[in-house]
Amino acid sequence: MTKRDFLSLSDLSLTEARDVFAMTAKMKAAPKGATLGLLAGRAIAVVLEKASTRTRVSFEVGIAQLGAHPITLTTDGSQIARGEPIRDTARVLARYCDLIAFRTFATTRLVEMAEFSRAPVINALSDDGHPVQVLCDVFTVEEHFGEKIAGKKVAFIGDCSSNMARSWVEAARIFDFHLALAAPEGYFPPENETRDSHVSLHRDAAEAVRGADVVNTDVWASMGQEGEAEKRRRAFAGWTVDERMMEPAAGSAIVLHCLPAHRGEEIADATIEGARSRVWDQAENRLHVQKGLMCFLLGAKP
Ligand code: CP
Ligand code: NVA
Repeated sequence: MTKRDFLSLSDLSLTEARDVFAMTAKMKAAPKGATLGLLAGRAIAVVLEKASTRTRVSFEVGIAQLGAHPITLTTDGSQIARGEPIRDTARVLARYCDLIAFRTFATTRLVEMAEFSRAPVINALSDDGHPVQVLCDVFTVEEHFGEKIAGKKVAFIGDCSSNMARSWVEAARIFDFHLALAAPEGYFPPENETRDSHVSLHRDAAEAVRGADVVNTDVWASMGQEGEAEKRRRAFAGWTVDERMMEPAAGSAIVLHCLPAHRGEEIADATIEGARSRVWDQAENRLHVQKGLMCFLLGAKP
């Protein structure tokens, strides 16, 4: 069997994503421990070149709940900081481990890991995408509404050039919903990624939020962009997702944020803590959906 990687959402067909969600729902409903045998005897590496709270913990806990052994490597605690090439790390890790989740900077590093690893590789965030997060978020939306996301309107407000927004663009095409991106000029995804009838671009947040079922945002300066933080704070002034900005949304609209959040910047405290916020369910589902994804990539069936 040729190995399957999950570097971007397009690495799964809609049918396969639905298989992952079905396995996720089954495992989420099962008692803790019921999944312990699924990946017993396996080892899974989580390699982090950037900081992480949710990704690290949800992968480690999920791996343990599947009966496998998690090993986390951070840049500083490994030979990566001393310049060992990714291709060497990939080949060696794949001799010990059955799967690698990799958080990194440029896509070239991710692709190199996948190319040289004989074990499947999951993109656990790169500069260009956060597909595992958005896969989990689509599951959260469908779980919340009790129906498929197809036909719904999702608004993404703020840094639409971010890895999060760019993975939402991919999701819109695969899951067939409308994605309205609203950002100040210069903060949209590369043009070739948004030439799609599922995506609309707006310079006015109210237009994007109007009638939206889901309103999503992300930090104004992503990891690796710390040097631009001040410039970005100026560019995004007035783009905070707050109760006023939520007014044109559908009455039943929910608010998502992948976290970590900067209250008072991309999202207001009252909004992230408010009745429409689903961010804690969203964070929890990282655990469940990633278990489904790992089972899918390793051919295990709950
Ligand atoms: N949302 C997310 O990936 O969080 P961490 O950076 O804490 O892993
Ligand atoms: N866009 C953010 C997401 C963090 C999970 C970043 O890359 O820092």
